[in-house]
Amino acid sequence: MRTYIKDLELKKGEEVIIKGWIDIRRDQGKLIFFDFRDMSGKVQGVVLPGSVAKETAEKTRPEWVVEVKGKVNERPEKNRQADKQNGNIELEILEITVLNEAETLPFDIGTDTREVGEEVRMKYRYVDLRSQRMQRNLRMRSEVFSLMRNYFRDSNFTEVETPILTKSTPEGARDYLVPSRLEKGYFYALPQSPQQYKQLLMTSGIEKYFQFPKCMRDEDTRGDRQPEFTQLDVEISFATEEEVMNVTENLLIKIVTTLYPEKKIQQIPFPKIPYAEAMSKYGVDRPDLRENKEDPNLLAFCWVIDWPMFEKTDKGGWTFSHNPFSGCKKGSEADLVNKSNIENIMAAQYDIVLNGYEIGGGSIRNHRPEMLKKVFEILGYSEEDINSKFGHMLKAFTLGTPPHGGIAWGMDRLMMLLHNEASIREVIAFPKTGEGKDFMMDAPSTVSAEQLIELGITVTKKA
Ligand code: AMO
Repeated sequence: MRTYIKDLELKKGEEVIIKGWIDIRRDQGKLIFFDFRDMSGKVQGVVLPGSVAKETAEKTRPEWVVEVKGKVNERPEKNRQADKQNGNIELEILEITVLNEAETLPFDIGTDTREVGEEVRMKYRYVDLRSQRMQRNLRMRSEVFSLMRNYFRDSNFTEVETPILTKSTPEGARDYLVPSRLEKGYFYALPQSPQQYKQLLMTSGIEKYFQFPKCMRDEDTRGDRQPEFTQLDVEISFATEEEVMNVTENLLIKIVTTLYPEKKIQQIPFPKIPYAEAMSKYGVDRPDLRENKEDPNLLAFCWVIDWPMFEKTDKGGWTFSHNPFSGCKKGSEADLVNKSNIENIMAAQYDIVLNGYEIGGGSIRNHRPEMLKKVFEILGYSEEDINSKFGHMLKAFTLGTPPHGGIAWGMDRLMMLLHNEASIREVIAFPKTGEGKDFMMDAPSTVSAEQLIELGITVTKKA
């Protein structure tokens, strides 16, 4: 039976079988030393003179995958390294079976791979992910997601999946489109967020919803933006702004104190800053409040609240500043009804900011159909447009929809900041490059003429 490397300390004096990679191999002639690596850690092994394992040991190379039979010996006193994993033991290698050979890797994974060119790292992403840094980023991401799932389950939330093939939801970005084969000339849109679905789940009586959805937005990629990214998405019936903010705040504190105890949260409860104050005092709507920006373990969360609901467009009309489904503050209701004083209408909107990054945002929604219609009218939609684009929402809101509100976090941004990474690409297993490319799979790529014909699509290529 296989023993994981982390459990070897408990097997002193016993014969064991480990499976994993050769991390390092040092041939000293009489003795051949190895460091072996599996998902649980590393251990040193040695082939003693006269061992039957010697012949195989001599031909092996780093990154070969092996099965090793060995005896767990206590190291002689002078060779012990108490502060290192398995620093007090050594595997006396009795047998090595090669499971897979490895050519020389395209780059060294013994470093944190930061100095390796991005194109090579992305092309060989499966190798890049072997480095200790990337292993930790992925494994901690899994820990954070598990903690969050447990938190929501313990608080009576229901995890619901929503469609990927859907219709465009206005979140302010360009849509990715998927052509329909059965109805030529028609398209699905990939969701920019599950906003409409989660609100409709409130109509369904789910009351407390969460999900880790993939969201797709065709915008220019940068360090904190990917064409597809992961959210934590939450919606709660009968909730107030305070309630949604408390759920977020308690969960963020729990994640940090449980999984990142070395980090310090600058201020609890998180400060709440009105949008107008953020702009006048800091000149940005996502201020970096850290008292000491040199400290990699300092987390300065804050809320930005009291957002204007509408922004002027270049063409003199109005657009929504977050999403059209946000409700307005009590004091702005009369203005919304009368479509007056539009620039002063305040949304029941809150953004959560960490160290100068927007890591989430949400609102209490506009669940009254006549009020939601006013928003669409201000945005300049015709009656026909409103019905074709949002008829289902307006209808649902006439069939018993509780007041509700929610939030979505950008999980990649949160993980990036918790791991002091410069880009969200470092916390996503298979991200796209800055140019939106996947060098490993070679995507996007052309498709066959047959596929295009089947979809009724003609491609006009740039000359
Ligand atoms: P919003 O559009 O603000 O809200 O998105 C929520 C959070 O998602 C993150 N985010 C991104 N992360 C990586 N790459 C991107 N391209 C990207 N775009 C956004 C940000 C952002 O704060 N439906 C609403 C939420 C709601 O009202 O409940 C929504 O999607 O951290």
